[in-house]
Amino acid sequence: MIHANRWYAAATAAEISTQPTEHVICGRPLVLYRAASSGKLVALENRCPHRQAPLSMGTVVGDDIMCIYHGWVMNGAGQCVHVPHQDSVAPSVRVDAYPAVQKWGLVWLWIGDADKVDETLIPDMPWTEDANQSSVFIRFHVGANYQLMADNLLDVSHSDFLHASTFGSHAGRKAETEHVKAELDAWSEDGAVYGLRTLRDVVLSPMAAAWAGTDKPVTRTHKTCWTPPNNINIELIMENDENKVTIHHDHLMTPENETSCHYFLIWTRDFSVHSGYPTDEDVRREQSTVIGTEDISMVEAQQRNKIQFGDPADIPGAADKIVVAVHKRIAELQNEDQGLSAT
Ligand code: FES
Ligand SMILES: [Fe+2]
Repeated sequence: MIHANRWYAAATAAEISTQPTEHVICGRPLVLYRAASSGKLVALENRCPHRQAPLSMGTVVGDDIMCIYHGWVMNGAGQCVHVPHQDSVAPSVRVDAYPAVQKWGLVWLWIGDADKVDETLIPDMPWTEDANQSSVFIRFHVGANYQLMADNLLDVSHSDFLHASTFGSHAGRKAETEHVKAELDAWSEDGAVYGLRTLRDVVLSPMAAAWAGTDKPVTRTHKTCWTPPNNINIELIMENDENKVTIHHDHLMTPENETSCHYFLIWTRDFSVHSGYPTDEDVRREQSTVIGTEDISMVEAQQRNKIQFGDPADIPGAADKIVVAVHKRIAELQNEDQGLSAT
């Protein structure tokens, strides 16, 4: 489901330049570019009104975009403002334009009514601009419905199994000495869903222990906040009497189509910011590898199975409190928002 009148992350700010690029966002094929003179972001339907050539194959001229096929020119509002060898252009010659803004290092697109644009609905991520913290931006393409990817991120319990040898911890295993029991709570407030999961005196997996800078057991706390349409912030705190580190994970899922999505991760640490381990490059390499090979491989396999088995209903466990609370909130929004369809 696509929520009406919400912002969707479409690209990292660094990706968008005066070289037009094509993107499929919420089922809509779009061209994005940065106006050459003003630097303003432009998002248009990726088609020329003349004979449907992709505008992403064209060229930015000033603040406008020129179709490569026969030179028709569209402005940032999607209006055709020039047809070669023609004195005037009818106002009806145009394509749809989408409001686009840059904030927190990302490009956000408004999917909904142009007269309801509200920048306060972009989630707050002030840590991405804090000089005492360092943020790494990573974009993934996932061959699965965005909600499967979101559910993976709302379900922290998989860390102790899927990521047992990388950045998880050792808790919850049957017939092992590592039987730390999670304390878990989830609640809704002001349209958002919050979760709190704590593991006490838990042994960390090697990668997490290296971040925490300790070999001793820690208290590992996950504070989760979900806001619509698919914004998840997880503040991970690992602490013991030797050290304390905090990592903000911002996970933003944007539907591409029904069975694929864009996943933007911003990983912000408050330790080793200027020197030591991990560097930004360490973070980029580790997160790209682990999420790509462990999480995304799993989510894409789930997607294939859902198709093969005719989409059977899930059976939530006690650890799924946050997932269940978010699904409940999404069902409420479906009525309130009169959700738009992705296809
Ligand atoms: S198709 Fe774009 S100018 Fe002809
Ligand atoms: Fe994971």
